[in-house]
Amino acid sequence: MPRSFLKDTDFTPAEAAGVFELAARYKKLRSAGVTDILKGQSWGLVFFKKSTRTRLSFEVGVYELGGHPMVINSSDLQISRGETVPDTARIMGRYLHGIVIRTFGQDIVEDFAKYSGLPVVNALTDLLHPCQSYTDIFTMSEYFGGGESDIDSVKGRKLVFFGDTACNMAYSLALTGSMFGVNVVLCGPEEFKPKPVLDKLFKDAGIPKNYSFTSNPEEAAKDADVLYTDVWVSMGKEDEKAARIKAMSPYQVNSKLFKLASKDAVFMHCLPAHAGEEVSADVLEGNRSIIFDQAENRLHVQKAVLGTLARMNKA
Ligand code: CP
Ligand code: NVA
Repeated sequence: MPRSFLKDTDFTPAEAAGVFELAARYKKLRSAGVTDILKGQSWGLVFFKKSTRTRLSFEVGVYELGGHPMVINSSDLQISRGETVPDTARIMGRYLHGIVIRTFGQDIVEDFAKYSGLPVVNALTDLLHPCQSYTDIFTMSEYFGGGESDIDSVKGRKLVFFGDTACNMAYSLALTGSMFGVNVVLCGPEEFKPKPVLDKLFKDAGIPKNYSFTSNPEEAAKDADVLYTDVWVSMGKEDEKAARIKAMSPYQVNSKLFKLASKDAVFMHCLPAHAGEEVSADVLEGNRSIIFDQAENRLHVQKAVLGTLARMNKA
């Protein structure tokens, strides 16, 4: 089977560091049209859930690498009328050169990789969002590296994720952060604390855990270098909206929490944001917020993931 990127730990820390070096190169050389590593290739960008950043950045990214991006909404496929995942994946394997997929279960991306015989990139599942967490660690490596990406500069930094600590972003930040020595603190209500599956992901990958959980937001924010949050109601959890907002409201990232953090602390958010819920409007729009650098970096990092897989699978 070709190499895929289904989980944060599908690349070793050394390979992931290579992704970041390539992302920095792609970022610098973007205007020059750096590479045509996907020339002649058609990539399916398959969405079972909504997306703005992921959809746009992958479509632009595949095009900029010389490939042909095909955005495919699952509602337009026969899969929405009962065709199976294995059959759909085997069909895709006969036409395409790779698949980027956003869906519900992690088992679905695993099955697409298994049955298509193609490289597959996880563009968000209920379990993980590795394209975002790689982008976030890269963005931190630029900020703490003084403008130029320096992956060593993230080591020992304290990143606190507030809110739903049993969601895809919390898990992916714990995994990717741990790969690079970031001290990840997951902070949220007890009933939304990480499930045993997170520790299983660490165990399966043989990556030492570098995260902890607390339900105390003030304790968590103390001396933090990054205050990070995500929506309280992830896609697919809309039925639980009222209960989630009630449970998570003590975990809003606001100026009170920022005062406890380190003096050069930054605010990060994978977006989309809901000002007044998980983050106050002043923090979201304030001068410590690096959310749009983060969003831009999706493009560079994902191009580097695709470029890295292309090289690996050619070898
Ligand atoms: N952060 C992120 O993945 O955004 P989209 O849902 O808009 O793709
Ligand atoms: N946890 C969020 C991330 C959105 C990018 C969700 O799954 O909806």
